[in-house]
Amino acid sequence: MQFPVRRLRRLRKSESMRRLMSETRVTRDDLVYPILVQEGLDGRRPVGPMDGFYRISVDLLEDELGEAHDLGIRAVMLSGIPEHKDEAGTSAYAKDGIVQQAVAKARRYRSDMAIMADVCLCQYTAMGHCGIYKNGTVDNDLSTPLLGKVAASLAEAGVDVVSPSAMMDGQVAAIRAALDQSGHQNVAIMAQTAKHMSALYSPFREAAHCAPLFKDRNEYQVPYTNPREVMAEVESDIEEGADIVMIKPAMMYLDLVYEARRRFTAPVAVYNVSGEYAMVHAAHSKGYIDGAEATLEILGCIKRAGADIIITYSAKEAARMLP
Ligand code: PBG
Ligand code: ZN
Repeated sequence: MQFPVRRLRRLRKSESMRRLMSETRVTRDDLVYPILVQEGLDGRRPVGPMDGFYRISVDLLEDELGEAHDLGIRAVMLSGIPEHKDEAGTSAYAKDGIVQQAVAKARRYRSDMAIMADVCLCQYTAMGHCGIYKNGTVDNDLSTPLLGKVAASLAEAGVDVVSPSAMMDGQVAAIRAALDQSGHQNVAIMAQTAKHMSALYSPFREAAHCAPLFKDRNEYQVPYTNPREVMAEVESDIEEGADIVMIKPAMMYLDLVYEARRRFTAPVAVYNVSGEYAMVHAAHSKGYIDGAEATLEILGCIKRAGADIIITYSAKEAARMLP
């Protein structure tokens, strides 16, 4: 059909028409708010580059969950900063570990929210790597049983979903086995399947004290050049028993979200990471862009690409704006 018969602007002429025509939309139900709890902390501390985001003490968790819940957010992802690190990352699976405490409290306060927790070793190991460092490398098969132990201990504390972010081969299978053997068949795994080696994690690393002491994470995180390798990661995580797969970061990786959505039936989550949040807020604070509008656009585009779940530091901000 040729102009002037076809006039696509007819469908955009008013707010009500535009809303009626909306093909995709983000809702509060899609959002997961990340919470960073720090052991031994009193109160809360700003995370430098992340305007409006704080590390909090376990004591503040009830308020934090309450605020998110009041805004209509129904899911949170907990990560921890322990007081003690060691070679084996033992504080990651301690019964009274910081995330275990947070999960137990969250469970008690809010049975009406989905409680998720990150599963990794980097905050807990002296080396700051996501697995156990041995003989000049991150030892894959030494690390996966420990990740299983972390997951089982979080399940014991009452978590609904564990989310492994270590990028060890076989971590999902090891975690599924550890969960099942400890009687937690109903705890789901949201695998951080395609966690790319990215420059956009640095605000989180600084806040969570989890930057590697030496070397980088190139030998386990995925390079941003390899879409086929990402599909292989998705395929193998699903085979290993992942209930939900994830692409991370978000904004620059939406081609992978789109492809994973089309090729697989598992729900696809996206992690809109700390650096993405920091960029938007930094540009906003300089007056270069409207951060609120940019945030809605970013989340809307992530949804359009096919994401089912969006983990984002902007969840509360977005929930205040969404219709
Ligand atoms: C640790 C972890 C990282 C993030 C989540 N879990 C950092 C890293 O891998 O170095 C990044 C999250 C963010 O930047 O928001 N495994
Ligand atoms: Zn890690």
